[in-house]
Amino acid sequence: MQAPSAGPALHERLAPLSFLVGTWRGLGVVGYPTIEDGRYEQEVVFAHDGRPFLEYSSRTWILDEDGNRLRQSAREAGWWRPGREPRDVEVMLAHPTGIVEVYVGEVAFRKVELRSDLVARTETAKEVSALHRLYGIVEDTDLAYAIDLAAVGQPLQPHLSARLSPVEGQLS
Ligand code: HEM
Repeated sequence: MQAPSAGPALHERLAPLSFLVGTWRGLGVVGYPTIEDGRYEQEVVFAHDGRPFLEYSSRTWILDEDGNRLRQSAREAGWWRPGREPRDVEVMLAHPTGIVEVYVGEVAFRKVELRSDLVARTETAKEVSALHRLYGIVEDTDLAYAIDLAAVGQPLQPHLSARLSPVEGQLS
């Protein structure tokens, strides 16, 4: 096994978000009144290059009842930035489904709460109007989150929740 390389030091302005840095993998559940409930596998990466932003990416796979991958599902990519005050965070995410989200949020002791400030979409994208995301460390090691969604005429309500564990390296 290769030892992880040291890499650049985390920028001091990222200190409140430092608990997110790394590669995370685990399982989640998806639901919404208009779709079938399901389970998914996810890999999330929060990377940095020494500058004051985190590079975020997520890949998911829908699972069958035995936990085998059925198909690739949602991906998202973007940037997490410190805001004006030390506890403020600004997040921009883009989706292959034609949606772009801008969030304002707050971080407090290994927990981040994000509310969409703006959701933009392409001509052919589904109607998505608002999201709310809550991420936090649970049991000292895992990253858990819950995401509420207002879309396709439905009010803000749960779409996703997952619990991810820290891993070395990335999935193939
Ligand atoms: C972990 C990330 C996510 C997963 C695993 C996921 C999974 C799913 C699944 C399985 C469906 C049912 C349709 C299908 O099978 O493709 C769906 C529908 C949908 N999702 Fe997600 N999703 C994720 C994130 C998001 C996000 C971030 C948004 C909004 C920006 C979103 C908005 C929607 C919408 C609008 C629908 C369609 C609802 C409808 O047409 O009735 N999803 N999602």
